[in-house]
Amino acid sequence: MTGGAGYIGSHTVVELLAAGHEAVVFDNLVNSSPLAVDAVRRIANREVRLVRGDIADADGLDAVLGGAGFDAVIHFAALKAVAQSVADPLRYYRNNVAGTATLLDRMAAHGVKTIVFSSSAAVYGNPRTVPITEDEPTEPQSPYARSKVMVEDLLRDLDAADPTWRISVLRYFNAVGAHPSGHLGEDPVGTPANLLPYVAQVAMGRRDFVPVFGDDYATADGTGVRDYLHVCDLARGHLLALEHLAAGPRFTVHNLGTGLGSSVYDVIHAFERACGRALPTRVVARRTGDIVVSIADPERARTDFGWQPAHDLDACCRDLWRWCQTHPNGFGD
Ligand code: NAD
Ligand code: WQD
Repeated sequence: MTGGAGYIGSHTVVELLAAGHEAVVFDNLVNSSPLAVDAVRRIANREVRLVRGDIADADGLDAVLGGAGFDAVIHFAALKAVAQSVADPLRYYRNNVAGTATLLDRMAAHGVKTIVFSSSAAVYGNPRTVPITEDEPTEPQSPYARSKVMVEDLLRDLDAADPTWRISVLRYFNAVGAHPSGHLGEDPVGTPANLLPYVAQVAMGRRDFVPVFGDDYATADGTGVRDYLHVCDLARGHLLALEHLAAGPRFTVHNLGTGLGSSVYDVIHAFERACGRALPTRVVARRTGDIVVSIADPERARTDFGWQPAHDLDACCRDLWRWCQTHPNGFGD
């Protein structure tokens, strides 16, 4: 599993182990901590091998892939900060696109030809209609989002060239929450770029107020609407996608989202219910490049492999708040 020490990857390792699979985590730890893998070991009560390596390093990949008899690779490894990708696009294309090409090349060389790829709702940009089906044309708005479209295209070309590949593209909407054990969660470096980690830091007293990026959008309360899904529901989707691939399809694309939209204020109020106190907010300017409404149509994942989210936004906030209380400084505690 590339990127398996990261936020979504680590939760997915827990799901895989609980289902009786074995997993090796391959991660360069550029945006994660080895302590996340320790937490996975503790939750699963199983040993998990962590290999520190970069997907751009063919030799490092060969050392892991050689002779280990992997059934599949779940490929989470990527850089994901949208604003950073605008400032340093080459780094994003090199890491996310060229790195993936190297990974696919080495997988093929070792006869491992099944992959689940972490794509993103960001590929849709500002959708023409919501909820968004997988047939919506892609219109990426940032180098980060374009790197995801490029890898999707690369995978489609690979399927056309070699029918022995089995490829699942999962387009995640907004992953939030934490493992209910309180041992595993998101640990953003520096100022959180995403709403819920920021709200959580306000609740912990680490920041003064939640900046609301515009309240004059054409939505019910004027703030941006997103489809937030619990990271454990998302993690389970990977298992189901793998099982679906084993049943035969060669190339699939699925949204993973709840089908429900929440505004910025909906999120803040849900977190207030979870932490039991009011959180200060301040309306500030719109964030450049923000889309207005993003809500998944998750019907295809439900029909094809029976995926349905089990957690609502309140449960996401409760689990995130538990993680914040047990680990106020992330994995630093
Ligand atoms: P994350 O940063 O926590 O995890 C990514 C992991 O990949 C990190 O552990 C990082 O160290 C590792 N990594 C990055 N580049 C690497 C490289 N070259 N070689 C080896 N390891 C490398 O992010 P996440 O939120 O867990 O996201 C996982 C995947 O899901 C990413 O591909 C991301 O683009 C995608 N995604 C995330 C969200 C979300 O809401 N978090 C939404 C849509 C898509
Ligand atoms: C959600 C809403 C903001 C912070 C981004 C990436 C996307 C992705 C997930 C990877 C928006 C508002 C936010 C704050 C706010 N993942 N907001 N104050 O923008 O949907 O998605 O992360 O693929 O590619 O673009 O998520 O959490 O940043 O924002 O008002 O301090 O909260 O304007 O409406 P977003 P987000």
